[in-house]
Amino acid sequence: MKYTISEDRSRMLFFLLVLLIAIGQTGSTSKRPPAGSESRPVGLMRHPSTHPPSFSDFDESKTTRKIVVRIGNRSDTFSLDDLQALPKITVTDYEAIGVKKGPLGKNTWTGASLKDVLLCVDSSLTDISNASKLIFVTSSDGWLAVIKWPELFGSLQRGEALYNIKGCNECHGINGEGTAPQGKLVAPALAGKEWNFDLVHDITRKGKQVHGGINPYREAQLTEMELRAILTWLQNPAARVPLGEDQMDLSESVALLAYLKNGKPMTGRDGLIQLIMEMDQYTSRYSHWVELIEVK
Ligand code: HEC
Repeated sequence: MKYTISEDRSRMLFFLLVLLIAIGQTGSTSKRPPAGSESRPVGLMRHPSTHPPSFSDFDESKTTRKIVVRIGNRSDTFSLDDLQALPKITVTDYEAIGVKKGPLGKNTWTGASLKDVLLCVDSSLTDISNASKLIFVTSSDGWLAVIKWPELFGSLQRGEALYNIKGCNECHGINGEGTAPQGKLVAPALAGKEWNFDLVHDITRKGKQVHGGINPYREAQLTEMELRAILTWLQNPAARVPLGEDQMDLSESVALLAYLKNGKPMTGRDGLIQLIMEMDQYTSRYSHWVELIEVK
């Protein structure tokens, strides 16, 4: 469908939306769960202020030298040596973008494949019956990265994949359910709504004060086509797209538990074991000091 709304009409719609955002904000703030509430949404941030980490307040106790992996009732611990004994995988010239800091510089990362590590604990994890499982990667600084099973072992709808790859998940939650991190702006729920393309295009392109203080997403980082795919998915995340139709195969993409940066061992300050997701263009799942991986 083509959008042929007149200038005046779209301006009016825009103001109406700004108003709605303002109202929505007040509404969602009051719905924030009480502190210590059990039902934490499956958002990505627990202590977003620590990510990307600020090294000035680095505390040596954050450094991790082993990872506990839990899948159902199986559990195993991998030391740095164990990880190094697994096949070495390298992601070359990977550059993540911080939503606030911008491009973070190109680096080459080497480590063990997250998939290999998971399969050491439970080789049946590749079975399609696990498709709705989530992989929770927790770091010692409290950062939680959530990965969907199909991102490692299958394929996702294009819009769903792009939503994660472009970092929307970092604030709006893994399924667009919205998050209310302590002391941070509420990132509204996006799922289940029919978004006006022009409006969202405007918010994401402008960034800054109209978008939670983050950098603008320019065409080079998020094309109009990509944004349209994201909005189509958000409108009805549960809708099943026929297999092979508009899917993105992510299973070849690498998720690393990295222990070498540009061929050299890392320091405890960098994180001796870091999660690097090759497919992620933003830092939403880039994680230092990984200490626990759970599949549920
Ligand atoms: C760093 C956090 C962050 C990221 C990343 C982010 N957003 Fe947002 N977004 C927000 C916040 C916070 C708001 C609320 C706006 C405000 O209060 O300034 C918002 C608002 C929005 C709104 C308006 C919501 C409403 O209810 O009117 C849309 C639509 C939106 N974001 C889409 C996206 C998309 C699409 C992406 C990924 C391409 C994205 N956002 C990435 C934090 C983020």
